[in-house]
Amino acid sequence: MPQASSPIGVFDSGVGGLSVLRALLATMPHERFVYLADSANAPYGERGDAYVAARTHAITQYLCEQHHIKALVVACNTATAAAIHEVRSSHPNLPLVGLEPAIKPALAVTKTGHVGVIGTRGTLTSAKFGKLMTALAGQAHFVVQPCDGLAHAIERSVAQPVPAPGSAVSSTDTGALCERYLHAMGAFGTAPGQMDTLVLGCTHYIFAAHELRALVGPGVQFIETGEPVARQAWRLLEAAGLLHVPEHTDHGKPPAQPGATPSVQLLTTGPVAMLEAAAQRWLDLPASCCQSVQVP
Ligand code: DGL
Repeated sequence: MPQASSPIGVFDSGVGGLSVLRALLATMPHERFVYLADSANAPYGERGDAYVAARTHAITQYLCEQHHIKALVVACNTATAAAIHEVRSSHPNLPLVGLEPAIKPALAVTKTGHVGVIGTRGTLTSAKFGKLMTALAGQAHFVVQPCDGLAHAIERSVAQPVPAPGSAVSSTDTGALCERYLHAMGAFGTAPGQMDTLVLGCTHYIFAAHELRALVGPGVQFIETGEPVARQAWRLLEAAGLLHVPEHTDHGKPPAQPGATPSVQLLTTGPVAMLEAAAQRWLDLPASCCQSVQVP
């Protein structure tokens, strides 16, 4: 039976969900986290629903049985679209948070009423996304662009040097794919008729923010889901009485732990060196947090 001291499970097809873990750590620094990157089987975006649902099921079982997680954050839009309803019915007592492209928050910030949405083919052609778009039809002009290969290129780019701020779009696969897809979508900017808001409907894409920013210019807002998802996870845990409350000092404040490494285990079904590079680059976490595992 999971308890407040049990870890929160987080998973993605690969390293993209680390963007969500970053927000979870900022919101709940006293929790323990077990993150699983299914990098041996990434990308999910072009695999089809049956495959992604089977992986989601296997990973949920693994995290419940081996790590006794108290809640699960599916930090992957593609897995959420393909399988969240099945996970909900197979694990009715597990607090569960999924992700979907943040279209509603985008409506709240767009001034031109033109919104771009990028994501994987799996997410953007799913019934779940179709329903969301139907519900919001007429509230803005949406340009929806599946970005085949982009999540995969971002995974591979982890081992490459970080581009200098302000440098031109890189000639890497990531830069070239961003350029191709954004170009196909039309004009970005803040003038009437231009897209002033871009929804990042895949957790990998925030790690290509540099390349995307260079293409759309400074005035376009990026909308991603890390923070709202972290708040939702907090609410669910609180409602279930499963929040980990740190021991308090006499003054009623949690004890300060300057420089303490957060309690995070990072697991991957793929090469551990890639996860180590991503953890260090994006979360400033040491390689000692990372480990390779098999989840058949
Ligand atoms: N990061 C994932 C998402 O949010 C999936 C990327 C992929 O594996 O294609 O959809």
